[in-house]
Amino acid sequence: MRGVILAGGSGTRLKPLTNVTNKHLLPVYDKPMIMYPLGTLLKAGITDILIVTGKESAGDFMKLLGSGHELGCRLTYRLQDESGGIAQALSLAEDFAGSHKFAVILGDNILAEDVGPAIKSFEADKAEATVFLKQVPDAQRFGVADLTGDKVVSIVEKPAKPKSNFAVIGLYLYSPSVFSVIRSLKPSARGEYEITDVNTHYVKSGKLGYHILKGEWTDAGTFESLHKAAAIARNSKKI
Ligand code: TTP
Repeated sequence: MRGVILAGGSGTRLKPLTNVTNKHLLPVYDKPMIMYPLGTLLKAGITDILIVTGKESAGDFMKLLGSGHELGCRLTYRLQDESGGIAQALSLAEDFAGSHKFAVILGDNILAEDVGPAIKSFEADKAEATVFLKQVPDAQRFGVADLTGDKVVSIVEKPAKPKSNFAVIGLYLYSPSVFSVIRSLKPSARGEYEITDVNTHYVKSGKLGYHILKGEWTDAGTFESLHKAAAIARNSKKI
């Protein structure tokens, strides 16, 4: 099992903090943000990891993380030239993934839970894709999954009237079939290649599994959620 951290994007909602650096290098409590998704993968036993980032700060990620040797992993870096969306950033992982199943985590997602068991069961079974869901009070801000039995029947991006309170978080498990799915996508109205379109493809073919997170989770892409991320990081240190 391999791991991919997507740490490109523009970080516009965190301006002016992101005027001079990449969002994923900003502090979350006692570490740069990217150390958290990296820690999530390492805790799950994944040690072969690709970091996709923009060209402005690529050198800073290398300065921070190096080859990964000191962290007990092997890091590979790839550049996303422009912020063309999460699915476009993911397409850059095709050579790295090869014939392996892999986990993708967004560089601004902070999780307190050990997702190792969920990842291991995905590796062992026939599923082609799995999303992680978290019950949230403000589902209209997220991609929202509608569930029937053990199936995801739809994912709707930022619905005005959410059909459930299950937000799709920024951790996904895929087989290499995802790269041909990405090639079939068209850019959305905002001009990006959307990860929700990728996941909807698997919903339609009945091949999307899901795992409900019990532990704390937040993204850290807004001032409020960045603040919450620091609190989660601080609390999980105290345990
Ligand atoms: P977003 O928060 O949706 O986008 P963003 O980081 O560009 O921020 P903003 O909307 O405030 O401008 O992206 C979530 C994560 O996905 C982000 O932390 C990094 C990753 N990402 C990429 O790697 N490449 C991309 O082109 C985009 C849009 C996101």
